[in-house]
Amino acid sequence: MGTQPPDAGTRPLALRLRLWRNRMIAKPGFRRWIARLPLLRAIGNAKANTLFRLTGGFIFSQVLLAGVRLGLYRALEKEALTTACLSDRLALPEERIRLLLRANAALGLVIEIRPDLWVLDDGGVILAADRGLDAMVRHHAMLYRDLIDPDQLLRTGAAQTELRQYWAYVREMGADGPKPAEVEGYSALMRDSQAMMADCLLASHDFARYRVLLDVGGGDGAFLAAAADVHPGLELHLFDLPAVAQRAARHLDALGLGARTHVHGGDFSRDPVPGDAECVTLIRVLCDHDDSRVETILANLHRSLRPGTTLVIAEAMDGSSDGARLSAAYFGIYFLAMGSGRCRSAREIAGFLAATGFQSIRILATPNPLIASIVTARR
Ligand SMILES: C[S@@+](CC[C@H](N)C(=O)[O-])C[C@H]1O[C@@H](n2cnc3c(N)ncnc32)[C@H](O)[C@@H]1O
Repeated sequence: MGTQPPDAGTRPLALRLRLWRNRMIAKPGFRRWIARLPLLRAIGNAKANTLFRLTGGFIFSQVLLAGVRLGLYRALEKEALTTACLSDRLALPEERIRLLLRANAALGLVIEIRPDLWVLDDGGVILAADRGLDAMVRHHAMLYRDLIDPDQLLRTGAAQTELRQYWAYVREMGADGPKPAEVEGYSALMRDSQAMMADCLLASHDFARYRVLLDVGGGDGAFLAAAADVHPGLELHLFDLPAVAQRAARHLDALGLGARTHVHGGDFSRDPVPGDAECVTLIRVLCDHDDSRVETILANLHRSLRPGTTLVIAEAMDGSSDGARLSAAYFGIYFLAMGSGRCRSAREIAGFLAATGFQSIRILATPNPLIASIVTARR
């Protein structure tokens, strides 16, 4: 594509129609005309609401952060409470908790079931129940500070962002990898936020056919624990950076899975990973890395694994569904702030696998492409 806009005479019909429509919408008179026709008014107002949600997006995400930090959703988890009662429990003046509750009601998180009596709406129920979502919302405080000058970030990329500090492995690592204190924050976040991902993956791929499962970049072992729960016969192997592998061994032991578990510390871009598993998972791993590093990681796995081993890649991927598009928009900016990685489509990941020599590449549907899509291949 050149840097000049296409010549007016050669524009395709769909583009000409879109440009005409855009010119009309830009005219205040056209919008006043639309507002007089009930059906078009409803469409116009819905679009205005969407745009307003976006314009006020920072306020709304801060409403969410306040609700999480104050413990609003947890307080309402099992019962309906009055404004006065919430004011007492959350130690906030009554008029301010009412302000917060009304904002939450507009965002679909709570319902005012009768005047000054509050109960959770669907979104609030999930926020109260899911520790991972709670942790994600809290860690966004860092991301939002990194995004304070988004145009600058887009121009220069991330050199010194907080997310780059947080995700220790995206910076230059010494031979032993990051220290235990450097992996603590992200490992806890990944463990707490694994539940929805594990549900998606376990519902989409049958792990019952394997005897030995190896989770590469497996973090604290939350996915292995979820898989072990569903498939009691599985032998569990985990490979991660040494400081994370130590945590995983402790975590899996505390869950009573020590006897079924083998944990290995190393660098998946250069160290051999154990080659005796029938299935190897890479969950939320490739997306963290730039293309050249993805090639290195896959080439190293290809060298290490026995022919016939199934490789399962699960992460948020770009795609045509609303969920996949939303994920790609979110992670595109997230990885920009982190200074590493990319939200790829399943086809792009399939391309990397084929180029590294993996075979029988398949793209699997999952129950929720917002959380994950899956690509499998055979070594
Ligand atoms: C985004 S986390 C995902 C963790 C886990 N798979 C999950 O979904 O919860 C990426 C994982 O890859 C690990 N990792 C990053 N670079 C690594 C490397 N060079 N060698 C081994 N593990 C690495 C990190 O320590 C971390 O546990």
